[in-house]
Amino acid sequence: MADSNKTAILSFDDKELRLPMYSPTVGPDVIDIRKLYAQGGVFTYDPGFTSTASCDSTITYIDGDKGELLHRGYPIDQLAEKSHYLEVCYLLLYGELPSGAELEDFESRVTNHTMIHEQMHMFFRGFRRDAHPMATMVGVVGAMSAFYHDSTDISDPWQREVASIRLIAKMPTIAAMAYKYSIGQPFVYPRNDLDYASNFLRMCFSVPAEDYEVNPILSRAMDRIFTLHADHEQNASTSTVRLASSSGANPFACIAAGIACLWGPAHGGANQACLEMLREIGTVDRIPEYIARAKDKDDPFRLMGFGHRVYKNFDPRAKVMKQSADEVLDLLGIENNPTLQVAKQLEKIALEDPYFIEKKLYPNVDFYSGIILDAMGFPTAMFTPIFALARTVGWISQWKEMIVDPQLKIGRPRQLYMGETYRDYVNVEDR
Ligand code: CMC
Repeated sequence: MADSNKTAILSFDDKELRLPMYSPTVGPDVIDIRKLYAQGGVFTYDPGFTSTASCDSTITYIDGDKGELLHRGYPIDQLAEKSHYLEVCYLLLYGELPSGAELEDFESRVTNHTMIHEQMHMFFRGFRRDAHPMATMVGVVGAMSAFYHDSTDISDPWQREVASIRLIAKMPTIAAMAYKYSIGQPFVYPRNDLDYASNFLRMCFSVPAEDYEVNPILSRAMDRIFTLHADHEQNASTSTVRLASSSGANPFACIAAGIACLWGPAHGGANQACLEMLREIGTVDRIPEYIARAKDKDDPFRLMGFGHRVYKNFDPRAKVMKQSADEVLDLLGIENNPTLQVAKQLEKIALEDPYFIEKKLYPNVDFYSGIILDAMGFPTAMFTPIFALARTVGWISQWKEMIVDPQLKIGRPRQLYMGETYRDYVNVEDR
């Protein structure tokens, strides 16, 4: 955190406060308000944290106006094209791209933790078959703290490292098991000779009666989806993980909290909601009706997969995702896919509409991902679990960064209280 040599002056009542300012390596300066209450007796008010930096971080940078996303400085389009998910995991966790030997060692550490404790199979069986796989994942990931006691001491760097590797390694196994359980098929054990994405596809689509031949183009597309979702700085689920861990909770409990937050349709649940919306629209001629609904203040409907708190330009992940959708549908010979036609036309119409232009609403990462996952054979309920498994590395990287931050304090926002003031209790017979 560099001192910006600037000071913000805040005056109110008869007070004048001088607040220090800091400059990031890139992005807007921040005003340090930590002493505001102690010195001025006031709080700031920022519901939804639209103007609040909650931490300093070196992991991910987003320029929402340019539509730029950098991980440790590297742009997402280059990572999506030239790198692969586990290398990006290494970059997020340790700060630099690995050497060949470092990458090999990391991949082998992840690969050797892909199985889950056998007892956890019973745990799955306690859920109803029709449970949403996100519900199962929140439960099972939270339950990891009951199975891996030797990596829950957050003050021990070695245990933190083991917990990180375990979470990245086991998340595909858990997501695939949640899927298999929901369709009544037997669990498929991981295979360590396969790469991360191929192994996940096989655990989802193989059955004991017939193995699943992993198509390298599909596994590359899967890997790219993971890469595009790996981290996104202080979004709602990451902030949830940070807030949960600020109390000293163990990493498995904190990641379960992140999964729960991701589930909502305004966040990770938008990929499921978006494909369901595209299917509901069904044909291109019905698009105007939905655009009109999205613009109607009295209708709560929103175009899913559109808009973003930070991006006021194209989400760079959506650009890569769109290209990937074309490649995958082409490979699978799914020509004239009606959902893709609706998506492309909807995007075109929305981008030319003054409402969307004025509010800077562009397609986000969730707009095209569902089309690819659907073409691969995933049901919509699996879209958000796939987001969760890919985002796990982001949550963990942010958690690891936070644990060693000397400024770490329990997260404890204040409020603008608008309720009753002091009043005495009235006995029931006198009310
Ligand atoms: N369709 C129609 N209008 C919209 C949309 C949309 N998708 N998104 C925002 N608006 C309007 C909104 O009504 C508001 O209008 P007004 O200023 O007249 O009240 C204005 O744009 C600003 O919206 P906001 O709700 O104040 O913006 P926000 O930053 O709080 O919300 C968002 C961001 C992503 C929650 C929102 O754009 C949204 O609900 N989008 C649809 C859900 C979605 O696709 N979510 C995935 C986000 S990317 C992946 C991830 O984060 O997991």
